[in-house]
Amino acid sequence: MTDILKTPALEGFIRMCDDGWLQGWHERNGGNLTYRMTDADVEAARPAFAPEPREWHEMGVTCENLAGEYFITTGSGKYFRNVQIAPEKNIGIVEINEAGSAWRIVWGLEDGAVPTSEFPTHFMNHSVRKRVTDGANRVIYHCHATNVIALTYVLPLTDRDFTRPLWQSATECPVVFPEGVGVVPWMVPGGVEIAKATSVLMETYQAAVWSQHGLFASGPDFDTTFGLAHTIEKSAEIYVKVLSTGQPILQTIEDDSLRAIARDFGVQLNEAFLD
Ligand code: 13P
Ligand code: ZN
Repeated sequence: MTDILKTPALEGFIRMCDDGWLQGWHERNGGNLTYRMTDADVEAARPAFAPEPREWHEMGVTCENLAGEYFITTGSGKYFRNVQIAPEKNIGIVEINEAGSAWRIVWGLEDGAVPTSEFPTHFMNHSVRKRVTDGANRVIYHCHATNVIALTYVLPLTDRDFTRPLWQSATECPVVFPEGVGVVPWMVPGGVEIAKATSVLMETYQAAVWSQHGLFASGPDFDTTFGLAHTIEKSAEIYVKVLSTGQPILQTIEDDSLRAIARDFGVQLNEAFLD
């Protein structure tokens, strides 16, 4: 029988959990990751599925375009730090029912574990990103990115007030997220309200900042999604360091320079965030 842990989907998922842990973005059980599997991923993993799947759990949200899909998900209360050493206890695969309203565990999440408490949020955002990217996006990643969180204490909580300093703090940022980032005000985690607020933003953005909480990022694969979170957090770190000097900012990347980057790299910048 094939070893499910050697399949590309599981290998990539586990590596990304470890990468996030090594960055320091996943204290305790902080953060969560979900991946919408391809048909090939599902067929490669199926030999390891439980002969008797577990019971269905209604999510309280329905997304018809995710009916019948399979997701790899981190477990609620589980530590990213432990994923690599005991994947079957800390992550799992869930199948979505034909209504697109409930999940059941088909592999992993052993000993009574359940998908992340943010699963309804991930699920709603997978639905949006699947639709707006014509099925290309498959990964949703939530991390407690330190410097992004720090900025939510000192910047006005608007998409524009976050996007501009992030674009200006690292030259390649406008290329990586030309549409900018969205900002969600402080909300209780794990609820339907934060799920809805985030999914409105993810119609436009690849990533959203959760105030006083973290970052929520999407992408087509593990590399691109991790790279997006890493790029946003690095830029936030630079801006935090700049602010921490207490010195006036003498120069930054001006809007004409942002436009020049966009022109040469062939991306369309969100004009609403330029002067
Ligand atoms: P979970 O352990 O349920 O994934 O929650 C962690 C978290 O970061 C909530 O926002
Ligand atoms: Zn969190």
